[in-house]
Amino acid sequence: MLNQETNKKPRAFTNIFLHLHPASVRREAIAFNRTFGLGGMAALLIVIQFITGIMLRLYYEPFPGLAYDSILLLQNNVLFGRLIRNIHHWSGVFLVIITFLHFLRVFLTGAYQKPREINWIVGLILFALIIFSNFTGYLLPWDQLAYWAITISTSILQYIPLIGSSLREIVLAGTEVNADTLLVFYNLHSSVLPILILLLMAYHFWRVRKAGGVIIPNNSEEKITVPTYPNLVYKEGVVALVLIAVVLVLAVFANAPLLDKANPGYSLNPTKAPWYFAGIQELLMHFHPFFAGFFIPLSAVVLVSFIPFLNYKEKATGLWFHSEKGKSSAKISIVFSFFIIVISVLASEYLVNFESLLPGLPAFISNGLFPFLILFLILWLYYQFIKRKFSLSLNETVQALFVVILTSFTLLTLIGIFFRGVDMALTFPWNL
Ligand code: HEM
Ligand code: HEM
Repeated sequence: MLNQETNKKPRAFTNIFLHLHPASVRREAIAFNRTFGLGGMAALLIVIQFITGIMLRLYYEPFPGLAYDSILLLQNNVLFGRLIRNIHHWSGVFLVIITFLHFLRVFLTGAYQKPREINWIVGLILFALIIFSNFTGYLLPWDQLAYWAITISTSILQYIPLIGSSLREIVLAGTEVNADTLLVFYNLHSSVLPILILLLMAYHFWRVRKAGGVIIPNNSEEKITVPTYPNLVYKEGVVALVLIAVVLVLAVFANAPLLDKANPGYSLNPTKAPWYFAGIQELLMHFHPFFAGFFIPLSAVVLVSFIPFLNYKEKATGLWFHSEKGKSSAKISIVFSFFIIVISVLASEYLVNFESLLPGLPAFISNGLFPFLILFLILWLYYQFIKRKFSLSLNETVQALFVVILTSFTLLTLIGIFFRGVDMALTFPWNL
């Protein structure tokens, strides 16, 4: 099979796959633990969303008086209607998780550095589009969950300085969630966003090929190449079949949620944002909204976008975590974030109230700037400690800090989803 061993040219490969893959690939590039197939899985999930989405469109009616009933009709009277809806729901959830894991894999193998820096940015935009697709889809069933989740998450927009209120009105096509919001979300969801995603995905794939395929450890001696078919294509087939099986099993046994029809006069308690925004909603429990809903998320996005453009002295190694030092510092960063987040959340919930501690000051300072500066100081001290302890390079330092930020955000998201109950009080998942 190896063309070095058989001395044969790779078999002619004249179909659509040739656009995605070259005729032969480095053997190391297709080892499963190089990419875990995550980018391919994300692409497959998007295809599943498109196919099931087009089917849902056949029955769905994007008007407040009809939307909810059209979902009931689809679920109860259309052959496989409920299954198709469940697949669309679970595949949407998986898409966010798998894309996030792909983003982690790219980061932790240093594959954001030149010549892949543009693809890092393209990937981030794709990620935003995926979140936005999920978000616009969330409203469509027009049940209580949908109505109040969109109401609460768009209210966060108000805290953006100067343009916040107008931005919210643009997004909602009004001052609150209404018939026009549903129509705009529906059109964005089922035509504008899919087109943007398709175009960007094609560009993303093209750039992967242009960079010479996925990143390979630069200390590698092995130069063996193998024909793409069957070596890579079979592996992709197996990953695809396993993923489809998992989504199908979940869709058969777990229904997509559907509460009562939306009722603008009666809010849910707790009113939670869609799960992928639970981290931001959790931040709002502890910080002034300017910091929780605007400054901290925006700073995170800006920092992540700039990662490829720092002045790295070493080229990307292509190794997971760069080095043994890199691995150890990443592990310590996970433990550090775990303690900081758990202690801060518990302290802010039960012990410390900055607004009553600093009564004369505006809430923006007492409950915003002040706690933010404390956390920033802790992060800075940690940065000094980790850099010295392991004498880390810039790559490894960026990685350690990034792991702190990502672990913290993931933990906040998990707390928001699983540990917030009635009145958004902290509670155990089994008491929800
Ligand atoms: C990246 C692509 C997509 C994502 C992430 C996505 C996500 C979602 C989500 C989360 C829902 C709410 C489902 C629920 O009730 O839990 C939804 C509903 C819906 N989506 Fe999509 N979707 C995508 C693409 C599409 C496309 C391409 C179409 C149509 C051309 C479509 C049509 C619909 C329709 C009609 C509904 C309402 C039915 C329902 O809520 O069950 N979607 N989508
Ligand atoms: C819809 C979402 C996405 C899809 C379908 C997708 C798909 C892919 C595929 C198939 C690959 C090549 C194989 C692999 O790594 O698994 C890849 C590589 C890459 N992706 Fe994505 N991706 C997506 C989102 C992202 C995100 C969020 C980022 C990061 C911000 C990103 C950055 C990259 C980079 C830099 C590469 C090159 C990696 C390397 O050369 O090793 N992608 N993507």
